[in-house]
Amino acid sequence: MTMRIAVAISGRGSNLQALLRALQPGAPAEVVLVLTDRPQAPGLSHARSRNIPAVVLHDPADATAWLQALQDHEVDLVVLAGYLRLVPAPVVASYRGRIINTHPALLPAFGGKGMYGARVHQAVLASGDKETGVTIHLVDEVYDRGDVLAQRRVPVLPGDTPERLAARVLETEHQLLPAVVLAAAETGRCRAL
Ligand code: GRF
Repeated sequence: MTMRIAVAISGRGSNLQALLRALQPGAPAEVVLVLTDRPQAPGLSHARSRNIPAVVLHDPADATAWLQALQDHEVDLVVLAGYLRLVPAPVVASYRGRIINTHPALLPAFGGKGMYGARVHQAVLASGDKETGVTIHLVDEVYDRGDVLAQRRVPVLPGDTPERLAARVLETEHQLLPAVVLAAAETGRCRAL
């Protein structure tokens, strides 16, 4: 059976695009819904161009709207891909173990509320760490806290700017996120790689 996936985004949607590229016809998973808290999110274009239904969460804290959308589209797995809001607790409870997030650092380092986008990479550079990376993890009620499913290391290079580091990390996210989703679809459950 094909695993039915909802992808939640807030912005550019390059991870959504990477996932769509990895899930060609015949794959064990399919993106059936895109959710966003931002009606103007550029990443919605990837849903539009493939006729994937998109739902705007006008109040992202409204669990009823979330659950309605997920139920309407018979979603098995929710992927947060550059989604910047907290998933309401009743949604986490209903889909426990079936919501995953990609984070552009090696959690638990450089995670938590407010740690997103350029701030993550600025903090890594300020720390002097020689490596950073990508973490794919289960989502629970607290930002960036759930069980880790996969991590990949990415070197910090001399002369890196937050932008250069972000681009290098993003390339790794584009590989690791689809790999975790495909592994989940093949076994029917989220598991550590
Ligand atoms: C990714 O690095 C993601 O981990 C972070 O924000 C970025 C989103 O990129 N939370 P995109 O919207 O998938 O292009």
